[in-house]
Amino acid sequence: MTQDELKQAVARAALEYVVEGAIIGVGTGSTANYFIDELGAMRGRIAGAVASSEATAARLRSHGIPVLDLNEVSTMPVYIDGADEIVESGAMIKGGGGALTREKIVASVADQFVCIADGSKLVKTLGKFPLPVEVIPMAGAVVARRLGALGGQVKLRMKDGQPLVTDNGNHILDVSGLSITDPAAMENDINNIVGVVTVGLFARRGADVALLGMEDGVKTLQ
Ligand code: 5RP
Repeated sequence: MTQDELKQAVARAALEYVVEGAIIGVGTGSTANYFIDELGAMRGRIAGAVASSEATAARLRSHGIPVLDLNEVSTMPVYIDGADEIVESGAMIKGGGGALTREKIVASVADQFVCIADGSKLVKTLGKFPLPVEVIPMAGAVVARRLGALGGQVKLRMKDGQPLVTDNGNHILDVSGLSITDPAAMENDINNIVGVVTVGLFARRGADVALLGMEDGVKTLQ
């Protein structure tokens, strides 16, 4: 199976976690896109969705799924999203698609986080994938120095020759070369750097369930 077929398989499997009549939190990225395409087929059976990015909101709307502002929503049973890396405990690196801040916010409201990913995202130790950190633009250099002191190499994410600007008007620093043996502690440490908006470590609130696409089927970790 190709990586895309594995992503499609987990996107389909995630429909089991969709609660009829409820509002669903929806993530960002290629796996989340496959999930949105599946969700489109049951649009009349959910109340709507909260999107973790402008791109996700547009895709949901293109399927006729009502998109709600998080300020109108106090609870949601499930948030479904991909990951760049995940360990068995459910801690993840996210933000490869630049949507980490809204992803973390929407996930924080959901009762359950269901991670959907192809099996290559399952790792023993987080950190091979560069860790995304969203920063206030004026703090980019100072935060880069502080992140460098943690032992990683820091790069400003670029797009079309310019710093990438997130949906929130911020920049992203990608930190490579980290071996993250205590993800919750590192999440705390990076959150405490002034100028950081969000770190793409989802450890204090990791995945409750992971659906991983493997050659022999979808493996569930919970
Ligand atoms: C976006 C994310 C994505 O979930 C992550 O990058 C995985 O993407 P994909 O499903 O395309 O592999 O965190 O900010």
